[in-house]
Amino acid sequence: MLNKIKLWKKENNSSELRDRIEQIKKLPVPDHVAIIMDGNGRWAKKRALPRIAGHHEGMKVVRKTTKLANELGIKVLTLYAFSTENWKRPKSEVDYLMKLPEEFLGTFLPELMKENVQVRMMGYREELPIHTRRAIEKAIEDTKENDGLILNFALNYGSRAEIIDAVKHILNDCKSGILNEKSLDEHSFSSYLMTSQLADPDLLIRTSGEIRLSNFMLWQLAYTEFWFTDILWPDFKGEHLLEAIEIFQNRQRRFGGI
Ligand code: IPE
Ligand code: IPE
Ligand code: MG
Repeated sequence: MLNKIKLWKKENNSSELRDRIEQIKKLPVPDHVAIIMDGNGRWAKKRALPRIAGHHEGMKVVRKTTKLANELGIKVLTLYAFSTENWKRPKSEVDYLMKLPEEFLGTFLPELMKENVQVRMMGYREELPIHTRRAIEKAIEDTKENDGLILNFALNYGSRAEIIDAVKHILNDCKSGILNEKSLDEHSFSSYLMTSQLADPDLLIRTSGEIRLSNFMLWQLAYTEFWFTDILWPDFKGEHLLEAIEIFQNRQRRFGGI
């Protein structure tokens, strides 16, 4: 009996979720959603588990979030998975984090293929361990013809380094005559960033209650709508993504106009 009630509740909830998804899809959804997935360590601490248990749980949430984003018709989902500053963490934690892309893609790549997801990565690849890099590069190669959701992992990504590199590249191109200094504008500057192929995020989500950017997409977020939540990343559910999008749909973006 109890099981029947549980099942009924589950089915009922998911039909509520379905309705909510259908409502959301009637209005424009953000094309590009970026998420700072924070709070894995605190999630684990609350359960007296090692921090890596939080990262593992967080990986499962990546899968579910990707699926829902795809279903909602979001075009790009950028996920901040490892910052250029995260190397400061204990080696054992960094080693574990560097194994997660292999585990994630090893398990879910067939599913991503089936769902027509295209995997991409932005960040400094050369500094990643070879096993991490191989897993990512295989996924990028295998999914390159897919034209559904772009799942863009920010891995060993740092926005200040990205901007400095763009400036260096621009100076070089000016010196060698590829670029005329006078033609440098916001549009051409953007083409030197790691996001050159992508539109700027429309919506930024950060979990875990921290209200900061932590060196994430400083240039690209100039006119992005922000949504912060206290939910820790491993506890982030479909309903939270829906809530963020509903709030986004009720915001008025002015881009400096009236
Ligand atoms: C986010 O969770 C994942 C990464 C930064 C890799 P954290 O590991 O930062 O979790 P907290 O902030 O310590 O709870
Ligand atoms: C930002 O989270 C980086 C990622 C989510 C990958 P952090 O946990 O590293 O950020 P700070 O240190 O709290 O600013
Ligand atoms: Mg954190």
